[in-house]
Amino acid sequence: MIPPNADHTKPRTPQASEAVIADLMMPHQANNLRRPSVFGGVIMSMVDRCAALSAMRHASGQATTLSIDRILFKEPIHVGELVEVRSRVVHVGRTSMSVLAHVYAENIATGERRHTNECWLTFVHLDQMGKPAPVPPLQLQTQEDRDLHDQAARRREASLAERV
Ligand SMILES: CC(C)(COP(=O)(O)OP(=O)(O)OC[C@H]1O[C@@H](n2cnc3c(N)ncnc32)[C@H](O)[C@@H]1OP(=O)(O)O)[C@@H](O)C(=O)NCCC(=O)NCCS
Repeated sequence: MIPPNADHTKPRTPQASEAVIADLMMPHQANNLRRPSVFGGVIMSMVDRCAALSAMRHASGQATTLSIDRILFKEPIHVGELVEVRSRVVHVGRTSMSVLAHVYAENIATGERRHTNECWLTFVHLDQMGKPAPVPPLQLQTQEDRDLHDQAARRREASLAERV
């Protein structure tokens, strides 16, 4: 539910929407390869849930996934590793939000931590009738904020140009 007193005109920083979820990978989350690694769908689900938290945080309300861009599995994640997803809103339109999520895998025994995936997602803020609703502006503070904002803007333009 949208808090009745949420001010959707007040700018919010990308940092304010930061979300983190983490999970220890268990045997039932592995694929059936000869040398099993964690099933890609497990990681995609974690990315979607974490990014949704960022979108809901920014919008102070409900948000639905409009798109999940390319997610590249550069290296396997193993059972027994701790997977951490971190995300934040990096661009907003009128009702949509672009979220960037990073995935890290940590070998708890050695402390080795790898950046394994990056994913861009788009969410739409929905009002209580389930219709797209305005989101607060994004207040960019750092050069990194501005760079990510520009990247997301280019991705959004490309995605809109492909819209059927
Ligand atoms: C998300 C949804 C409500 C949007 O409905 P819609 O009729 O496309 O709404 P609109 O045309 O008003 O577009 C909403 C926003 O999405 C953006 N959008 C729509 N299609 C887009 C595309 N292909 N690429 C980028 N942005 C797009 C619009 O530009 C608009 O953003 P803006 O207000 O910031 O400009 C609708 O598509 C839906 O319900 N999809 C199913 C969602 C779902 O089930 N997700 C999985 C479960 S969570």
